[in-house]
Amino acid sequence: MAEERGKFSSRMGVILASAGSAVGLGNIWRFPTETGRSGGAAFILLYLAFVLLLALPVMVSEFVIGRHSRSNTVEAYRKMAPRTPWLVVGLMGVMCAFLVLSFYSVVAGWTLDYSLMALTGSISESQDYGALFNNFVSHPYRPVVFLVVFLLMTHVIVARGIESGIEKFSKMMMPLLLVIILLLVVLSVTMPGAGEGLTFLLQPDFSKVTTDTVFSAMGQAFFSLSVGLGCLVTYSSYFNKQTPLISSALNVCLIDTLVAILAGFIIFPTVFSAGVQPDAGPGLVFVTLPNVFHDVFDGVSWLGDVFSILFYMLLLLAALTSSISMHEISTAYIREHWHVSRRKATWIVTCTCMVLGALCSLSFGPWQDVTIFGMGIFDLFDFLTAKFLMPLGGIGICLFVGWKMERATVRDELTNEGRNLTSLYGILLFLIRYVAPVCIASVFVNQLFG
Ligand code: PHE
Repeated sequence: MAEERGKFSSRMGVILASAGSAVGLGNIWRFPTETGRSGGAAFILLYLAFVLLLALPVMVSEFVIGRHSRSNTVEAYRKMAPRTPWLVVGLMGVMCAFLVLSFYSVVAGWTLDYSLMALTGSISESQDYGALFNNFVSHPYRPVVFLVVFLLMTHVIVARGIESGIEKFSKMMMPLLLVIILLLVVLSVTMPGAGEGLTFLLQPDFSKVTTDTVFSAMGQAFFSLSVGLGCLVTYSSYFNKQTPLISSALNVCLIDTLVAILAGFIIFPTVFSAGVQPDAGPGLVFVTLPNVFHDVFDGVSWLGDVFSILFYMLLLLAALTSSISMHEISTAYIREHWHVSRRKATWIVTCTCMVLGALCSLSFGPWQDVTIFGMGIFDLFDFLTAKFLMPLGGIGICLFVGWKMERATVRDELTNEGRNLTSLYGILLFLIRYVAPVCIASVFVNQLFG
């Protein structure tokens, strides 16, 4: 007998699961890293504009496709546009999901190890956090072990299904996550030297904006909101008819942006008060924060430990609520396409990502010298997904909803059959049909030929 597809049981579940997907390492690790590399406030302003003008319309479009088709992200196009090349948008999404989950699990594995090190007090014993980080990530197998454990944790939640796995976990963890973030913000902005970090975050210097900055800000908006690869097509296929799509999307964007900015408020004051360069790259939050927690609580090392524990647990939780959503994209596709059980589909995805993830992880250690297009495997996966596949997928998704689907269907989905008809509907439709595809395409053209 065919297994049920499953669905979310409440409106709260919908918002927390979708926000859980959005809020993740993208906010707390990638956002500060990219902001640091790209010079601060000007990057953030661009990012905010892209969230509103590009990522929000893509998110709403994904909701329309998923809820209307009630299918995984490949089947959705097959159902609504049979025998056409639109299917490619879905397939590209599934491929992208495998790649994202693989490199994501590497960093999530680091956070798992750092959480344990914080718990056992071994972070605060170390004197040189930069060396601690470098020795750890370049170790031949230790990070791989943690990446595997992280994927198994993700696996257990996804295998339990939509309501008792994904929804339940997100509902428990998201509130906890917000509390930890607020605690850390208070601590960090009251630190000596915090002012310099706040200036970096709040005073835009537009002379630093290059085509690269624009390209990175667009990638960051897509990555952080989990759009362009069908993640929200998949989640919304489990929504019910009453879920208001526009306001849910607005809520998710708001929560995600707030967390990203708050994460900036946690990280940059600490970066500057530790005297570290803000463009330190992927190690930024792993090197600076223990440093700061150590210095600020000089003499009371257990307090520094408590904050380290809180911070790495925060990263870990955030990573998990996102990784389950990436995993579900491919799990739903494999389950429904090959008619296998959820259990089996989940294993296929988990094992594939273990192998790909190990390749990414090794690019920090023994395979440091292996490069493709001048990039290590980890950087290549990050670059290909966030900067290429996701924005490209975003164009496809917007064009599909804006130009291919029946206008009446789109209207019914977005307004709950006319019951929630507001001027937002018209504005969003305009963004979906014209603004998002044209802007994304021009950023690409500018980057490639500018
Ligand atoms: N949005 C997630 C984050 O910020 C990452 C993600 C990307 C999740 C793509 C799902 C799909 O960490």
